[in-house]
Amino acid sequence: MSNRRPIVAGNWKMNKTVDESESLAREVAGVVSGVDDVDVVVCPTFTGLDRVSAAVAGTNIEVGGQNVHWESEGAYTGEISTAMLLTAGCSHVILGHSERRQFFGETDETVNRRLRAAIEAGLTPIVCVGESQSERESGTTARVISAQVNGALEGIGSDDVARIVMAYEPVWAIGTGLTATPEQAEEVHAQIRGELAGLAGQSTADGVRIQYGGSVKPDNAVELFSKPDIDGGLIGGASLEADSFAAIVKAAES
Ligand code: PGA
Repeated sequence: MSNRRPIVAGNWKMNKTVDESESLAREVAGVVSGVDDVDVVVCPTFTGLDRVSAAVAGTNIEVGGQNVHWESEGAYTGEISTAMLLTAGCSHVILGHSERRQFFGETDETVNRRLRAAIEAGLTPIVCVGESQSERESGTTARVISAQVNGALEGIGSDDVARIVMAYEPVWAIGTGLTATPEQAEEVHAQIRGELAGLAGQSTADGVRIQYGGSVKPDNAVELFSKPDIDGGLIGGASLEADSFAAIVKAAES
């Protein structure tokens, strides 16, 4: 880790009812209350956002949505707008998660449209990129990552790039218990920072936080977060329990 302020976000995915979300948020707030040098974000389902935001108001926890649409309103069944996230208490939003790419037709182009809307609304986007197992095995990881970063960020000015959080999530490591080794992760994080430098200049790239995601657990977090270009994590399974999430947050403390 560097002098960038780490950011650890819990991606609750399609887990937890509204009541369960509120209880988990309260528990998380209790166990991370002393942490003041890490940004801590929880991303419940859309239905849980409002109650979770109320539950963590006044704490060091921020709230994020798991996606957002580029239009401000209209006939887009199943989608949610930036204003809806903001008024439900969100400051962050996850974009381009591999599960959206894999199962719901998300592309670099739609991620780019969502990203522009999020930036315009003042939300902090967490933009996910990552290669599949077959892409890694066929040696195309660097090409895939380059296309995803440049596609998602196309046309975004450097002042706005500075506000983005990136997340490297190798698809083969998500929910599988397989984690990229710290060296494998660092190699891709350094590449992502290089792509950002190409888009927005080195000094902007040096300020962007890049999270690692994919089976981060309390027992591998310290080693991953010790790498120079890894600035925290995007946590799925281990964020569904307050204690394991808190342990990962604490692993990001300096
Ligand atoms: P995981 O998920 O920690 O359960 O592997 C990470 C993610 O998909 O954000």
